[in-house]
Amino acid sequence: MLVAIPREKNPEECRVAATPASVKKIIALGYDVLVEKGCGERANYLDDQYADAGAQVQSDSQAVWGSADVILTVAPPSTEDLDRIKSGAVLIGFLWPAKNKDLLDALKTRNISALAMDCVPRISRAQKMDALSSMANIAGYRAVIEAANHFGSFFTGQITAAGKVPPAKVLVIGAGVAGLSAIGTAKGLGAIVRAFDTRLAVKDQVKSMGADFLELEFEESGEGTGGYAKVMSDEFIRVEMELFAQQAKEVDIIVTTALIPNKPAPKLVTAAMVESMKPGSVIVDLAAENGGNCELTQHGKVVREHDVTIIGFSDFPSRLPTQSSALYGNNIVNLLTDMTPEKDGQLSINLEDQVVRGALVTHDGGVTWPPPRIEPSPTPKPQPEVPTVSQEPVTIPGEQRPEPFMQKWGMTLFVGAAMLLMLWLLGQFAPKSFMPQITVFALACFVGWQLVWNVTPALHTPLMSVTNAISGIIVLGAILQMQGSFKLATVFAFVAVLLATINIAGGFYVTQRMLSMFRKQD
Ligand code: NAI
Repeated sequence: MLVAIPREKNPEECRVAATPASVKKIIALGYDVLVEKGCGERANYLDDQYADAGAQVQSDSQAVWGSADVILTVAPPSTEDLDRIKSGAVLIGFLWPAKNKDLLDALKTRNISALAMDCVPRISRAQKMDALSSMANIAGYRAVIEAANHFGSFFTGQITAAGKVPPAKVLVIGAGVAGLSAIGTAKGLGAIVRAFDTRLAVKDQVKSMGADFLELEFEESGEGTGGYAKVMSDEFIRVEMELFAQQAKEVDIIVTTALIPNKPAPKLVTAAMVESMKPGSVIVDLAAENGGNCELTQHGKVVREHDVTIIGFSDFPSRLPTQSSALYGNNIVNLLTDMTPEKDGQLSINLEDQVVRGALVTHDGGVTWPPPRIEPSPTPKPQPEVPTVSQEPVTIPGEQRPEPFMQKWGMTLFVGAAMLLMLWLLGQFAPKSFMPQITVFALACFVGWQLVWNVTPALHTPLMSVTNAISGIIVLGAILQMQGSFKLATVFAFVAVLLATINIAGGFYVTQRMLSMFRKQD
């Protein structure tokens, strides 16, 4: 089959659907590849590079669209281009079916099977084909770079001979793919970063990137289906906006990415909040295309209101065209690989494949969008509660009820009492000089047990330092015991030195390995 990559018609679209590197991979799948002359120019991929990768370079646009069995694009095709596509061909690109009902009809009438890259479902297996995530990642990065370009100061704090520069403060609203990318970029530039999201599940991700996660004292989960969020109640939005109103007075830059698919973007930053920001502050509204998260955003424009710059571009990925074409090209190659199981250059549309079915919007002369809902994997049903005879006292939500005394200390008291009893029994028969030593030994075991058992797993690394110190003491004590003539105590002391040394060396080794996980690779 012949795969064609036309030049994007919109002069502002700088991306291309395949790079020379991805062309090589498509050829390895058994396809012939035809590219339109200059298709990768705006993304810095030259015709010679495509030719070297094994593609034919064609200057006649009509021939490119008309001869292909599979056409790869970024933006949806114009009606003129649709008329050129041969019946039965397959089109793969961003198609936005929810907004482009006419396009679906046109594709259906021309018997074109179309796969929308924006409809690849967000499931684990499809991550490598998830073009929306690839583009959102780039948009988050570019949003911060764009903000830095309009911001009049450093992001990082500095102490120089000329004076002290405080670090910029950045607030990221919505910590999905774009938000997390924005957090990483702002952090990398040295800013103090805070983030908020309705889904508490992202809290750890935000923290692991070095940002502070802002939380509300309001119990409502934002977790929706398919890896996306759900619409929040009016009351929740009111409370979160109070938080943003406070933050707006403090921060220098706000990046908003809050969105629920196929819904207008929630208005979270009001004109009054913009007015309360410091002069020179910057807002980047990534949700501009869907109405914007900020009341004063103008789609596609940079405006200045109340001395604050508000950026409403919706083409951030196209502003980083080399990188976004490379990632988008990879997403398409991964989809083609999935659809060419025999690597024989024959595309098979398998309707049983969740990813293909999710992306397929027209097929066999019919509209196949929206696809059937993907059922989430079944979660175990909650077990019915078995009523118990003894009724626990009712707990008011939020109230901390103290653990019953015996439940908390019962085991400790029992072991302590058993040890005392054993010591007393031993004292009846053992020699006098033996008793102080065995008492110290028993107490050491008891204290050690309490120390290790009561440390939460998160604190095991500091615990390792403590045990290393204890092992060090054991080594010293055992070396002292080894002095003098050879007796049973010398053997025990030798074993103690050996085990404690293994413990110390192992502790250092494990700590070193854990530290290297957090070190930046060169
Ligand atoms: P995503 O679905 O991964 O993330 C959106 C996040 O917003 C989710 O984590 C969600 O929980 C959160 N959210 C929803 N309602 C909220 C609320 N009321 N308050 C706080 N957080 C809330 O989406 P992704 O892929 O990160 O994209 C984010 C935005 O960026 C979308 O609007 C998308 O259209 C846009 N985008 C813009 C581009 C541009 O060039 N301007 C390019 C790519 C994406």
